[in-house]
Amino acid sequence: MDCKKLITLLFLIFIITTNVFTQVYLNSSKSNEKRIEDLIDRMTLKEKVGQMCQYTRATLYDNISDRDLTRMVKEGKVGSILNIRDLEVIRELQEKAMDSRLSIPLIIGIDAIHGNALISGATVYPTPLSLASTWDPELVEKIGEQTALETRAAGIHWSFAPNVEVARDPRWGRVGETFGEDPLLVSEMGGAMIRGLQGISSERDNRVVGCAKHFIAGSEPINGLNFAPTDISERTLREIFLPPFVRSIKEGAFSFMAAHNEVNGIPCHADKWLLTKLLRNELGFDGFVVSDWTDVGRLATLHRVASDMKESTKLTVDAGLDMNMHGPGFFESIIELVDEGKLTEQRINKSARRILRAKFEFGLFEKPYGNKDKRNALMRSDEHVKTALKAARESIILLKNESILPLEEKYDKSILVTGPNANNSTILGDWVFEQPEENVTTIYEGIKKIAPEKTDVKFCNVGENYHNLSDSKLKKAKKMAINSDAAVVVVGGNSLRYKDDKTCGENMARSNIQLVGKQLELVKSIHSSGTEVIVVLVNGRPLGVTWIAENIPAIIECWEPGSEGGTALAEIIFGEINPSGKLPITIPRNVGQIQMIYNRKSTHNFRNYYETPSIPLYPFGYGLSYSEFKYSDLQVDKSTINPKDSTVVEVKIENTGDRSGTEIVQIYLRDEVSSVTRPVKELKAFKRVKLEPGQSKIIKFVIGFKELAFHNRNLKYIVEPGKFKVMVGSSSRNEDLLSEYLFVK
Ligand code: GLC
Repeated sequence: MDCKKLITLLFLIFIITTNVFTQVYLNSSKSNEKRIEDLIDRMTLKEKVGQMCQYTRATLYDNISDRDLTRMVKEGKVGSILNIRDLEVIRELQEKAMDSRLSIPLIIGIDAIHGNALISGATVYPTPLSLASTWDPELVEKIGEQTALETRAAGIHWSFAPNVEVARDPRWGRVGETFGEDPLLVSEMGGAMIRGLQGISSERDNRVVGCAKHFIAGSEPINGLNFAPTDISERTLREIFLPPFVRSIKEGAFSFMAAHNEVNGIPCHADKWLLTKLLRNELGFDGFVVSDWTDVGRLATLHRVASDMKESTKLTVDAGLDMNMHGPGFFESIIELVDEGKLTEQRINKSARRILRAKFEFGLFEKPYGNKDKRNALMRSDEHVKTALKAARESIILLKNESILPLEEKYDKSILVTGPNANNSTILGDWVFEQPEENVTTIYEGIKKIAPEKTDVKFCNVGENYHNLSDSKLKKAKKMAINSDAAVVVVGGNSLRYKDDKTCGENMARSNIQLVGKQLELVKSIHSSGTEVIVVLVNGRPLGVTWIAENIPAIIECWEPGSEGGTALAEIIFGEINPSGKLPITIPRNVGQIQMIYNRKSTHNFRNYYETPSIPLYPFGYGLSYSEFKYSDLQVDKSTINPKDSTVVEVKIENTGDRSGTEIVQIYLRDEVSSVTRPVKELKAFKRVKLEPGQSKIIKFVIGFKELAFHNRNLKYIVEPGKFKVMVGSSSRNEDLLSEYLFVK
């Protein structure tokens, strides 16, 4: 046989054996929709239901044995795996999936909330609350991109992030995992994270599926406890909690996660109005909805709106859920329900299509695996560490400075560093597993590294347990303070999920917001030494540090600034970096003041308490700089407009200080008279502005329909004619704002 015939014969054999041209779904040159339809047509009911099922390994949780899991993956009964961190285990399971009848890859998910930080060696960026304190969406997008690179290289395709809940109760443990209390700021930050994670512009295998969570309003539980009921009006739901999810859809989020809680008597996982009528029919979401951890079963065991797993499954699939996180019971229930005619195969096809769409869009069929060398090269690469440091620098908030800071450059004196959070990994925050010590620069290590050569840096180890700050330790620290020129006292909380004494983070609510244990006594003891005290807060929620605010001359809020936090804090203390962070959440004086929010109604604090003024300790949007910024010449271009028109608001800002600095200019609006009560102010836009000493700039904001509109008595989203107060300045505090008026005809 001549060569030409042989090649033709071999090509025909290849075509017949692989029928690659007939298996459209395996042909990446075909459109996703064509690939989905071709695959759906080939799948059995069990294989479609399998896509809706997520599992984790038995060693983690007692669901099914690893052997059974592997078998089910091979049989095409598993669509997704979560929270497995070992690259080889992920690869083994993925190979089983690729070896299944239709070779449908698993979508592997993990909580990569601020870096893929459940993996040892990953770049640990500042937590979301810290990132919100930067008011820098571009930076957050870059962190999303870098997180996606590290996550995908680990063979993981889906991050259960961002948490775009609006946090308005500091008792709640997960405040640190959110972007704060304002719907606009949360929307901007959450949208940026989704753009970064899903990186629509980058290569398919450099991106991960984002997941807007938790849908909805579990961040305002009636008593601050995770899972507790949320009881809010539809108006509040639409005005406060929904906007970040609407923005997530606009940014193309491919998945949503339903929330643990009920809203007004209906568990989110069983709420058809929420998961279908609102999310899909009104808002047009066409991704897939995953349950939160075992929340399908909890419809029976916790919420008691179903009698068993089968009824829970029917309830949640009817409501609009697409995937069960996690474990057995869901698959079997659906098969039975379809056999009994209580669920249709058509309904199952909807969920299977949504999940397969993500798998095709993110290139899982072509590139299902990670790459160890690539992952190791990306984790804590110079570029990623540099970004983490930049974010830490921008996130740290100077709350008070009675001309103590910055310590002068040639600081040739002695400085004491102490406090339970001074030399440990509490700066990493929640959704982190233990990281190599060499990857984390603690506050003390940062100060030692950055302090000028002649500075004598002393450390007093008072231990890390907030309750074990014995009198002897306090006395020892005080004695060292007396012999020092300044003392940095690092206190706060602990969100580390791998530690058994955490005071914050998932499922760790508090019934008060004071410092835990004897931390305040430590601060008072050091203060009584007479030396200059700088209090540094490392914490995952607002703390009512009232005594400290009244008695300590310098206070820095770090939240949880990530692995480079110690370096950034030290650079700020010694003046290498000029702080620019602003509060993304109000800091109440005490738990009794909660709910304490800036976008409150005028009657919210019309009266006072017996013990406490009804104003916060520190307001939303507040943060100091080493520079001074002067606002002037606030103007509204067209002071009278039609409801559909827009106008330009401009303000002059000048750096009247002696060092360059960045100010976050904020614009707020108030609808002076309206058909329903409206907040006394609402953030409508913000801009980071860098200014050299003496430099000034004109900053402009466009105000139009979306800034002026609200839900009227009939929940119609409209602009009402009337007078609007326009406020521009450095925080939400009235004394920090210039104001003008705008009239809508
Ligand atoms: C938890 C959290 C959720 C997380 C999931 C998987 O219950 O509520 O945010 O993504 O489990 O770890």
